[in-house]
Amino acid sequence: MKTKLISPSLLSADFGNLQRDIEMLNQSQADWFHIDVMDGRFVPNISFGFPIMKTVQQYAEKFIDVHLMIIEPEKYVEEFIKYGADLISVHYEACVHLNRTVNLIQEKGAKAGVVLNPATPVLMLEDIIADVDLVLLMSVNPGFGGQKFIENTYKKIAETKDLILSNNSTALIQIDGGVNLDNAAKLFEAGADVLVAGNAVFSSENPSATIELLKL
Ligand code: DX5
Ligand code: ZN
Repeated sequence: MKTKLISPSLLSADFGNLQRDIEMLNQSQADWFHIDVMDGRFVPNISFGFPIMKTVQQYAEKFIDVHLMIIEPEKYVEEFIKYGADLISVHYEACVHLNRTVNLIQEKGAKAGVVLNPATPVLMLEDIIADVDLVLLMSVNPGFGGQKFIENTYKKIAETKDLILSNNSTALIQIDGGVNLDNAAKLFEAGADVLVAGNAVFSSENPSATIELLKL
């Protein structure tokens, strides 16, 4: 997988025109589709589930990056993969048996990511880093799009990079929440490989041009 990737979050798309928005992303320089699934338990919001995933699978022509903000994610891993997930990221805070869940995702044929909430230290990943394909650092408290970026994320990127290097891990670093045209370049420079952007892309006048600008 190459780096400096943009994964627009469909959470901020227009669900009345979902096919149109997915096709716009197909034509754009977006690299991945970021799918935010929320259960109203792990996070204080409910987003969408398999019916939307089915539409994404039908029209998306790029890598499908699924971010599960749900408790007991292991129960649904297989079904998300059936609906086309190429990568599934689960929260450290939501998995009692994280190693088992990461193994399950990979055995079923997808890449596995682990997500840390803003207050969860990077060192919690020490014994899983060699086995994961991606580390997703939340740069807002998960649950809603359009929130303010938490600056402490830069420190966590540096720590994650060190952890990856010292364990010969091939994990990518993904940042999610409050990414915009003011901080994207700085985040890539700090060591991020993949940036999620919802509000910055979909509330802009020209989403496709914004995606290009986020990569500069
Ligand atoms: C937050 C989600 C994010 C969010 C990003 O819970 O995981 O993916 O939609 O949205 P923006 O870019 O608007 O902060
Ligand atoms: Zn997300």
